[in-house]
Amino acid sequence: MRHPYLIRLDDPEDWLAVREDLQAGTGDLIEEAHDILRPEGPDLMYEFNDSYFYKSTAYHEHSTGWETFFIHEGQLDLCIRGKTATVSPGDVIFIPPYTVHKMTSLSNPLIWNGLFHGLGLLSVMDNKDMIQKTNPDLLLNPEMRSNYLANSDNIPRENPCFEERVPKEEIREIRAFDKPLAVYALPGVSLRQYTGRWENDGKTELWLAEMKQGFKVSFNQFNPNADLFYVVEGQVKFWVAGEEFEAGRRCLVKIPRYAPRSFEALTDAKMYDAGGSTHWSDFLGDMTSLKKMSPEKYADKQYTKGVFRRHQCYVESAAYKGQAIY
Ligand SMILES: [Fe+2]
Repeated sequence: MRHPYLIRLDDPEDWLAVREDLQAGTGDLIEEAHDILRPEGPDLMYEFNDSYFYKSTAYHEHSTGWETFFIHEGQLDLCIRGKTATVSPGDVIFIPPYTVHKMTSLSNPLIWNGLFHGLGLLSVMDNKDMIQKTNPDLLLNPEMRSNYLANSDNIPRENPCFEERVPKEEIREIRAFDKPLAVYALPGVSLRQYTGRWENDGKTELWLAEMKQGFKVSFNQFNPNADLFYVVEGQVKFWVAGEEFEAGRRCLVKIPRYAPRSFEALTDAKMYDAGGSTHWSDFLGDMTSLKKMSPEKYADKQYTKGVFRRHQCYVESAAYKGQAIY
C-alpha cells in the first residue's frame, strides 16, 4: 500500500500505472513510463512521471502546458528551434507552450522525470489505455500514431532545415546546475532557482535546496500550501501530520494543505521544491533587500511577518545544527 506522503520512484507499489510507448510498424520500445502523480485542480498541477527512454521523439510543440524534466541518469540530445545540445544529470529542461522540441536518448535507457502543469498528459494517456482495450491493433498502425498525436495537442513540426550544435548555455530551456537563475546562500542551505513564476503562468517556480546535515525547517500550522518535495541526493527526515519517515534519493514527498510538517537533513542532501507554492524568488529577494537596506525592518518580526505572508512563505523556524537562522 502506498505510504500517505512518501513516494518511492523505484518501488512498483508506488506506481499508478506503467505505460509502454511502442514504435508503429516495428513494435520497438520507445519509452517505458511510470505514472506517479495525477494532475490536480483546475490548473492540473503536480503531474509527475518517471521514465525510461530509449529512442527519440518527433519534432513537435504543444499549445498548452508547461513541462519540466529532471535528468536522472544518462544523457539526451535536446533540439529546440533547430539548436541542439546535450543535457546531463543535474540539468533541468523547461518547455513552455509553443516551444518546438525534440528529444533523443543517448543512453540505453535514459532515466528522467517529467513534472507537468496545465498539460493533462494523463487524460491523453487514459484515452490510449482505452484504445489498448478496445482496438489494440490500431495503436500499431503507422498512420494511427501521427493521427493520435495530432489530436492530443502534439503539434507536429517539419524537421528543421538546419540543425546547429551549440553549448547548452545557448538554449534558454536548458537550466544547467551551474547556471541557476539565482542563488541564495544561508547557513546550512543554499537555494538555486531553475524556473521562475513569470514563465510558469504564475502557477509555480522550481528551486533546489542544497542542505547541509543538520539543517531543519518547521512550517506554520496555518500553512495552506500543498508541498511536493523531490529528494535527489542524501537522506531527509520528515514529520508530517503525526507520521515520521525518511526520504532518500529518488523519493517524492507529497504533503496536503494544512498538514503540519517539518524536515531535517540527516546527511548533506539535495531536494527540489517541486510544488512551488512558496514565492521563493520574491520572498528571498525582499528579505535580502531588507537586510541590506533597512536592517531595522529586517529585525522587526511584526514587519517581516507581512513579508512572509505576502509571498506564501509559511516557514515557522529554520535552524542549522540547533542555531536559528532567522
Ligand atoms: Fe513534448
